[in-house]
Parts: sequence; structure tokens; C-alpha cells
Amino acid sequence: MKEFLIAPSILSADFARLGEEVDNVLAAGADIVHFDVMDNHYVPNLTIGPMVCAALRKHGVSAPIDVHLMVKPVDSMIASFIDAGASYITFHPEASEHIDRSLQMIRDGGCKAGLVLNPATRLDCLEHVMDKLDMVLLMSVNPGFGGQKFIPHTLNKLRQARQLIDASGLDIRLEIDGGVSVANIREIAEAGADTFVAGSAIFGADDYAATIAAMRSELAA
Ligand code: DX5
Ligand code: ZN
Repeated sequence: MKEFLIAPSILSADFARLGEEVDNVLAAGADIVHFDVMDNHYVPNLTIGPMVCAALRKHGVSAPIDVHLMVKPVDSMIASFIDAGASYITFHPEASEHIDRSLQMIRDGGCKAGLVLNPATRLDCLEHVMDKLDMVLLMSVNPGFGGQKFIPHTLNKLRQARQLIDASGLDIRLEIDGGVSVANIREIAEAGADTFVAGSAIFGADDYAATIAAMRSELAA
């Protein structure tokens, strides 16, 4: 099992002070920055794009930026986020006409590649592209908004995904996104996740460092 990574989702940050918010959450102990890109087409919400990613790099953010594309189509945004300084780029298989090609584009651009599976998307879509994946991201809410409730069935899906990854022998992270909090992070880790996105649970707290520390102590328990 890999080292656990905590990835605050800046969807729940104060966008009017985004650079400062990212600095603060990294200083509070976050490992990577989760960057949610929504297009009001693939999902019913509209957020931030590659210019904001590039602006965070220019601001001095050196931590990995984990770009979660909720856009359709994906390929032009992949190219833009490679140029904007993304570290990971993940997309939903339903949003690409040519999944293998899109994954290859990400790796050819020097980024780590991943697929994101919605709660009702089957795990078997991973089967023929496992060797092109650096990350599998399971959604534990329907994508589009922060602050939703964790869908409990995702725990079974995590266990199955963990088995698939371990059986492959490949170096692939298993990330979970949606409704993660101090209260449930331990059972999510026990089900097999190693990378934890948390938006409202961290940015909604008064003390980011205390919340991240509480998550780490649950993970260590
Ligand atoms: C939802 C986004 C998530 C969201 C998670 O579509 O992909 O990353 O920010 O927010 P919380 O942690 O509040 O469920
Ligand atoms: Zn996300």
C-alpha cells in the first residue's frame, strides 16, 4: 500500500483569495491540491480552467496539482492543463471518444494520468487501459458540487478496485472523491483508498491544520 495523501479540493476554498487559501492549506499539511474543472455541460456547474492553474504555479505553488476534469470533450483541456503546470490529470471515460488516446496524451505531456468513475460507472472500463493509468479516482458522490453525502456503496467498489490494482502489480493510486471527512476517512482507507479528496470538510473548518491532523491520526489508527 502506498503512502496516504490528503488532497483538499479547492472547490470549497474562497475563490476571491485562492492563492492564499492554497498556501494556507499546504502549510496546514496537505499533500496535493485537488483542482475541480467543471464545464456546465458534462456536469451542471461551472468552475475554473487552465489559466487559474497557471496562475497558482506563478504564485509559487510547487505542490502537485491534481486536475479533475469534469468536461466534455476532454482532449483540448488536457493539452491546456499540461501547459498550465498540472501534475495529475484525470477525466471521466464517458467524456472521451478515445479513452486510450486521451490517457496517452496526458503521459506524453509529462503528467500522471487517471480515469474517474462515477458512482454508477462500472470498474470493468479500466480493464484494457490499466497499463496507462497512474491513478484511479472513484467518485463517492455524483460529480458537480461539493458538500454532498458519501454514497456508502462506494466502499464495496473501493475494495474491488483495490483488488484489481493489487492484482495488476502496477503502480496506481486509488483516490476517493466526495463526502470524505474525519468521521469516515478510516473506513475509506480500510476499503483500499490511498488518496483522499476533501473539500468542505477541510475548507469548511475553522482550523485547516487541526482537521488535516485529525484525518492523519484516523489514518494512523
Ligand atoms: C465534486 C468534486 C469534488 C468536491 C468534493 O464533483 O469532484 O472534488 O469538491 O467536495 P466534498 O469533499 O465537499 O464532498
Ligand atoms: Zn474532484
